[in-house]
Amino acid sequence: MALDRNPDWWRDAAVYQIYPRSFADSNGDGIGDLAGVTSRVPYLAELGVDAVWLSPFYPSALADGGYDVDDYCDVDPRIGTLADFDQMVAALHERGIRVIVDIVPNHSGAGHKWFQEALASPPGSPERARYVFRDGLGPDRSQPPSDWTAAFGGPAWEPVGDGQFYFHLFDPAQPDWNWHNPEVRAEFVRVLRFWADKGVDGFRVDVADSLAKDFSADPLPSAAEVALIPAGPDHPYYDRDEVHDIYAEWRAVFNSYDPPRAAVGEVWAEDPARRIRYANKNGLGQAFNFGLLLADFDAAEFRQLIDRDLAQDRATGSSSTWVLSNHDKMRHASRYGLPAVAGESREIARNWLLARGREPVEDTALGLARARAASLAIMALPGSVYLYQGEELGLREVADLPDDVRQDPTFRRSGGYDVGRDGARVPLPWSTDGPSFGFGAGAAHLPQPEWFARHAVSAEQADPNSTLNLYRRALAARRELLGRPEVQAVEVFEWVASPAGTLHFKLGPWHCLINFTADSGLAPPDGRLVVASAGFGRDGLLAAPGAAWVVV
Ligand code: NOJ
Ligand code: CA
Repeated sequence: MALDRNPDWWRDAAVYQIYPRSFADSNGDGIGDLAGVTSRVPYLAELGVDAVWLSPFYPSALADGGYDVDDYCDVDPRIGTLADFDQMVAALHERGIRVIVDIVPNHSGAGHKWFQEALASPPGSPERARYVFRDGLGPDRSQPPSDWTAAFGGPAWEPVGDGQFYFHLFDPAQPDWNWHNPEVRAEFVRVLRFWADKGVDGFRVDVADSLAKDFSADPLPSAAEVALIPAGPDHPYYDRDEVHDIYAEWRAVFNSYDPPRAAVGEVWAEDPARRIRYANKNGLGQAFNFGLLLADFDAAEFRQLIDRDLAQDRATGSSSTWVLSNHDKMRHASRYGLPAVAGESREIARNWLLARGREPVEDTALGLARARAASLAIMALPGSVYLYQGEELGLREVADLPDDVRQDPTFRRSGGYDVGRDGARVPLPWSTDGPSFGFGAGAAHLPQPEWFARHAVSAEQADPNSTLNLYRRALAARRELLGRPEVQAVEVFEWVASPAGTLHFKLGPWHCLINFTADSGLAPPDGRLVVASAGFGRDGLLAAPGAAWVVV
């Protein structure tokens, strides 16, 4: 199946996120690589995904898992070469799978040539003007320009020893670019063209809402003052209006290709009116909807978020991105199996409990049953669906990694309070034995727990009720159903009345039923049962938690 030229492929694509260092290791050094991805193209084709999105594979010091990019137009030698990249793209395209790469335009890595030049150049030089440098405060300029903190904890300003500081929204090894500088703008156009010319089909834009900054105030407002400014035109760095000038320029680049290159922004803006500006067809075209990534497994919450996101689609002509797991969040099979605490995220809740000597008890069976149901739900919703590697195996978070193997800077910078994201980035198990469960011929760069064997691809392939086979059936059915003219996704989406604690929606003849609680049963409509995440009781009601698709 070769690629067609459909310019709208991204609207309802099933996109599989690959975290390259943890997917498949072809040479046994413990680090996943591009040749490993190529070797697993048959697996991806059989799974039935339409596209893959690769998290960064660029040369990097790995201060933030590769989101500290030292060279935007190359491949980290530990992961492969540009020739490996071309081979991988060819193999994926051959099987009809499109390729999305991650662009990280808010910051580079500290090892980037231009940042090294900036450090070697004096204050006020054009080299420093590519980043966000500013004089320190106080008589000897030893104090940071403001008391702002970085997203990973600690100060957001790093001194360079000559009275100046540079700004980093994330780790000190991730200096922010100065997007007021035309040289920076031109450089990213070059980077986008480099990958688009290589046949890349789309881009995932990291931290898409923070590129534009206004640090012209003198003195800068305090952290307490900034906290009161809503994201938007008055905020110094979140969701400023001028960011859309950058994406309008990028859109012109994307549209100069046939088919036009797609883009999806990582956008956390909560205000729907502002969020949809990123999804505009004159901008990136699509912006992540993270509602369900953070939501509980709860019928009312799901319904409210689905309504909200579909309304945004209708307003913009864009399409939603449904996502339950990614490399930044606790895997949803664990999130749904842990108790909620004090309104905190599950990651933090776990630590909150541990700090109080209470074991955070994870109900793994419940978590997995809920995860399977929720995954079926999102695969039936109008829009594209983003699946994170390993969720098709029902993998849980690896919660008990020893402190000394943790790589995520949040762990260190939060003094261990936030354990960080490594638990979702443990290399995949492909077989039930071997030094790294078939990930590679050597030990994996993050240790895999024994229970990974039960979720190995080889084991799940052989089990008709496995999560892997559930995903395969669902993705195959989804593709077939989306091809039918009467399933015009958002135009025909409709809720069907159902008991409390359940949801039921349909797209033309395609019905999706979800039973969130055990309190109420859910009777499927008459029709052909396509796929179900759980069984039906003797009473003919869908077991809870569970979801099923029926074609009427
Ligand atoms: C969002 C990415 O998904 C995350 O992994 C990264 O740490 C930050 N952006 C900074 O690049
Ligand atoms: Ca390797």
